[in-house]
Amino acid sequence: GSTVQTAAYDVFTVNSPNVTYTDNEIKSKYTYRTTQVETNPDGKLVATPTETLYDFKVERKVPKTGMMLVGWGGNNGTTVTAGIIANRRNLVWPTKEGQQEANYYGSVVMGSTMKLGTDAKTHKDVNIPFHQILPMVHPNDLVIGGWDISKLNLAEAMDRSKVLEPTLKALVQKEMASQVPLPSIYYPDFIAANQEDRADNLIQGSKASLAHVEHLRKDIREFKEKNGLDKVIVMWTANTERYADIIEGVNDTADNLLKSIEQGHEEVSPSTVFAVACILEGTPFINGSPQNTFVPGAIELAEKHNAYIGGDDFKSGQTKMKSALVDFLISAGIKLTSIASYNHLGNNDGKNLSSQKQFRSKEISKSNVVDDMVEANHILYKKGEHPDHCVVIKYMPAVADNKRALDEYYAEIFLGGHQTISLFNICEDSLLASPLIIDLVVMAEMMTRIQWKAASANGSDTGDFKNFHSVLSVLSYMLKAPLTPPGTPVVNALAKQRAAVTNIFRACVGLEPENDMTLEHKLF
Ligand code: NAI
Repeated sequence: GSTVQTAAYDVFTVNSPNVTYTDNEIKSKYTYRTTQVETNPDGKLVATPTETLYDFKVERKVPKTGMMLVGWGGNNGTTVTAGIIANRRNLVWPTKEGQQEANYYGSVVMGSTMKLGTDAKTHKDVNIPFHQILPMVHPNDLVIGGWDISKLNLAEAMDRSKVLEPTLKALVQKEMASQVPLPSIYYPDFIAANQEDRADNLIQGSKASLAHVEHLRKDIREFKEKNGLDKVIVMWTANTERYADIIEGVNDTADNLLKSIEQGHEEVSPSTVFAVACILEGTPFINGSPQNTFVPGAIELAEKHNAYIGGDDFKSGQTKMKSALVDFLISAGIKLTSIASYNHLGNNDGKNLSSQKQFRSKEISKSNVVDDMVEANHILYKKGEHPDHCVVIKYMPAVADNKRALDEYYAEIFLGGHQTISLFNICEDSLLASPLIIDLVVMAEMMTRIQWKAASANGSDTGDFKNFHSVLSVLSYMLKAPLTPPGTPVVNALAKQRAAVTNIFRACVGLEPENDMTLEHKLF
């Protein structure tokens, strides 16, 4: 791997008594302002502005980071790997539309900007790459590895995926061919039976075991050592599994889950075994598929070990549109009454989802994405009232990775009128999902270097710095069914999700949340 430090993260400094820079850290004192609401006996609401003072501390040294993908030989795994190689080498390849250069379009971290502030002289907005708000890992510097139940090398697997242009594939062919996924664990009952013929790269044993946990932990340690890495992030981008039943005594607590793994209980999925191995290894683990990898026992185990987890299910195409469009409709006071969502796709993901139990996992993760927006508007929706919502997925081999998503949004407008919005969205699936893998890995890694403590107003010591909660809900923007710390609300609305991550990163350098008041332009 390369040791090149690609990050250019010190393009700005913050000029404030609340922010200090040392060689190793950025420290900020940040006043978090929110509003507490109480209900009086007469039913009236009283809103009280509140302030909490926090100390944030960000480690400035960007670690040498590895990304290990479970399902490395799949469409996403091969596409993100080839994409990073293409960027690292600044590749240019001919296509029928002309020369194409490597880029990171579709990645929030690499492809979007945020407003730093307003220029002192011109009063125009000054925008910086999102990547530069904090010292983040550059994806070009990620060392990539991983597991797959299929033993094809990455060049062959890339061909099987039918995603990239032949001209690009030729340029990365040699490097891809030299990489072969590590053998993985395969419990046939969890993925579709139609996947069996690719399962030829297996660690022995077809149900959960401590030996499997130890094997995976050793794989992570060896990868780290071999590449001289400071840190590894593991990402599940393997097949969608069926849901695991939540059973008392089996996977409901951390201890029970470990006991069940030891006893080889059949309700422990491969993805949960990966999660447990990572948690015990102190390696952040993110689930890009919809199944309930994070059974209650896995979440408790992560909390116990102060390990980071995030999930579930990449939010790339149809659902991303949905979480933007529904937010818009309901915020506009328009009463959405139904959403009909059809998909057809022809890649291996589609083949796996043609099996009922695996489809069910996807159906669940695609279905709850409007709940918070509906619940927030009690003018349009009575308590418990909900738009009709139906999700259909069909396997259509011919369209390969070019998934089709057809959606009809039907809404009630002024005085009984109707608005019907019909969308036809061709989601080049793996090309949308790969940048999300990068964002998830870069942001999760960043979160491991941020610590906080509640500060006291009088400057007295308030104890030690702490980590963020084990469940990284800050990753929600990239995920269809965001996992949040137990008992905390889920936010699906896309703009809110982006604001959360932007503003938390800003707070770490002592900057106020981005707001769009632009009073300076409205009052003069
Ligand atoms: P894929 O089917 O091409 O790749 C999955 C890979 O995982 C295969 O190579 C398979 O051999 C491997 N695999 C299966 N079980 C394994 C195990 N136990 N250990 C190691 N490897 C294993 O699928 P694709 O398109 O790459 O998607 C991956 C996952 O991401 C799917 O669950 C999909 O639902 C999810 N996803 C994909 C999105 C996209 O836009 N591509 C969006 C949202 C979710």
